[in-house]
Amino acid sequence: MNGGSRTNPDVIAHYQEAGRIASRVRDETVKTVEAGVTLLEVAEYAEDLTRQMGGEAAFPCNISINEIASHYTPLLGKSEFAARDLVKIDIGVHVDGYIADTAGTVEVETNHHRTLIETAREALDAAIKETRAGVTTRHLGAVMEQIIKAKGCRPVPALTGHSIGRYAIHNGLNIPNHSDAAYSNTLNADDVIAIEPFNTMGSGRIKHGEARIICLNNTKNPSNPIYQKMKSQFNTLPFTSRWMDNPAELEQVGTLLRKYPVLIEKDGYAVAQAEHTTIVQENGCEVITA
Ligand code: CO
Repeated sequence: MNGGSRTNPDVIAHYQEAGRIASRVRDETVKTVEAGVTLLEVAEYAEDLTRQMGGEAAFPCNISINEIASHYTPLLGKSEFAARDLVKIDIGVHVDGYIADTAGTVEVETNHHRTLIETAREALDAAIKETRAGVTTRHLGAVMEQIIKAKGCRPVPALTGHSIGRYAIHNGLNIPNHSDAAYSNTLNADDVIAIEPFNTMGSGRIKHGEARIICLNNTKNPSNPIYQKMKSQFNTLPFTSRWMDNPAELEQVGTLLRKYPVLIEKDGYAVAQAEHTTIVQENGCEVITA
C-alpha cells in the first residue's frame, strides 16, 4: 500500500484515465514504426498524442531496439528504423501524477522474432491472471519464467516490473520475471503494479550504456534555483534533455540527478517486452492499460 488514498474512487478514476490514454498511445505509436521513419518522429508522436488526449508523459517515450532492452530514448539525432529491427515501445502517461506504464514489441517488416514477441505477451497474460491480493511477487516471477523457458527463451532477471505511486514510477516493490529473485513481497488490494516480462534467446545478462533519461532526486528544498525550476517542470518523474529549453542547465544540478543508463543484452541478443499496469484487487486485478 502507499498513499492510503487510492481506494478513493477519484484516485482510481485518475489511474483509469491515465491507463486509457497510455493504451491508445501505445497502440497508435506502434503503428508509426516503419523503416525510414526516425526514432525522434515516433517519440514525439507518442508524447504529442499523450498531451492531445489530456495526459502528460510520465517519462520520455522509450524506443529500445534489438539488444537494447530498455531506457533508450532518441535525443536530437536522425537515426531511423530499419527492416528486422525488434522495437520495444514503452509509454508512460500520468494524469495529475497518477501513472500508467505500458509497452509492446513490434518487428519492422520481417518476422524473425515472432516467438520472442508472443512469449512476452503470453508471460504477461499469465502473470495478470495470477495477480490478486495475497499473491507474492515471487509467484508472479515463477509464472512468467515457466512460460518464457517453455518457449525456449530466457528471462532478463535484471529488468523487473514495479509498483507505482503518485509521481513515482518505482514505488518500492519489484516484480521479478523469474522465480529465484532474492526479494519477494505479498501484494495488497489497491497496490498499483506494472508487470513487464523481458525475454531473449541470449543469456539475459545486462550491461549498461550511457544515460539518456534522468530524474531529479527528491531532495527537500535545495537552495539551487535551477533545481527548483526543473522540479516544478518535471517533479520527480524521468525526463530527457530533449524536453529542456536549455540542456546546459543539467550541469548545474549534477549531483541532484539520478541517471537511468540504457540497458543492453550483454551478448547482443534481441530482447522482447510486454507490459501492462494493473490495480490489485481482492480477487483479481484491473488492467488499466488493456
Ligand atoms: Co514499467
